[in-house]
Amino acid sequence: MSLTVDKSKLRALQWAIMENVSACAILPLMRIGDELGLFAALAKVGPCTSETFAQAAGIDERYAREWLYALCAAEYCSHDEDFETFHLSAEQQAVFADEDSKALMIGAFDILVGNVHGINAIAKAFKTGEGVNYGDFHPCVFQGTARFFKPSYKSNLLAKWMPKIPAATEKLEKGGRLCDVGCGKGLSTLLLAEHYPEASFVGIDIHEPSIYEANKEARRAGLSDRLCYDTADAESYVGRYDVITFFDCLHDMGDPLGAAKYARSRLHEGGLVILIEPSAADHPRENMSVIGQMYYAFSTMGCVPTSKSQKVGLALGAQAGPQRLSDIMREAGFLNTEVVFKNASNMVLACST
Ligand SMILES: C[S@@+](CC[C@H](N)C(=O)[O-])C[C@H]1O[C@@H](n2cnc3c(N)ncnc32)[C@H](O)[C@@H]1O
Repeated sequence: MSLTVDKSKLRALQWAIMENVSACAILPLMRIGDELGLFAALAKVGPCTSETFAQAAGIDERYAREWLYALCAAEYCSHDEDFETFHLSAEQQAVFADEDSKALMIGAFDILVGNVHGINAIAKAFKTGEGVNYGDFHPCVFQGTARFFKPSYKSNLLAKWMPKIPAATEKLEKGGRLCDVGCGKGLSTLLLAEHYPEASFVGIDIHEPSIYEANKEARRAGLSDRLCYDTADAESYVGRYDVITFFDCLHDMGDPLGAAKYARSRLHEGGLVILIEPSAADHPRENMSVIGQMYYAFSTMGCVPTSKSQKVGLALGAQAGPQRLSDIMREAGFLNTEVVFKNASNMVLACST
């Protein structure tokens, strides 16, 4: 069958591709800028020539200048009219140069670079249908996941999400116990521990290097007496809890139903599970957006292979949607499952029996 090409549709598609290609082209420059501290150096120096910037950053001027031009074209860097001096605006500093900013976005580029490193293993998995262990991903993936989610947890967890779940906040204010399953490097658990001084906290994850770093952070924050992290999987951790959380990880698990049932068995009477998942609608047609493109791509490179590497290998994907997640929780015995918060990037489900 011969297909007729509609020229205007073709042009529109080509332009959409060019925009994506251009965005992808900047990827290695973002990683290099981050790794060599170029954003921090530019923020520190303020408006400067490429020579002054190169000197301050300890890099070659010619590379510095080309990097600056590329970033200016992307509107990631500011400049004077004649492109003689360069600087980061307050907003550009907030997203690229301030590690503690609630607007930080540089971590996304870590994940993207990590995913590029993972291409060979994932391409092989496409053919075999097998999974790839989370621990076998490139280290950029672990660092990027923690850094990319950090601003959202800092902005939303205590100010917007927990207030929507009064049953959980009451328990934690009175000194309850919380287990954060699939906690990664543990920022979500640490923020909760700082906020609820009467309660005690455990974070568990299958990824030992993340748990090691999480415990280091707990010590640094002086919280080790009531916050600890253990290497365990979602069906082998010990203890009984008032609240069990899954931050952006239930869909990564091979057996989310098994994990939900196990969580139920670990809850005290009246306890509850909180799920934080990537925001999604139930039908793929409703996820065809900029955010959907990113999540389906992350999911192909990370969530699906992780899940397929584990028992059952359900591979829910990052865009499973609230209905599918609620069905799983109900099947596990959480008869009251409600989406209590949703924005462009996250949704929060509170689940009780
Ligand atoms: C996308 S990361 C999210 C990490 C962390 N919750 C956060 O929000 O930054 C998913 C995490 O789930 C963990 N994970 C995957 N399968 C698991 C399982 N069966 N049991 C426990 N953790 C698991 C991974 O090791 C990884 O740290």
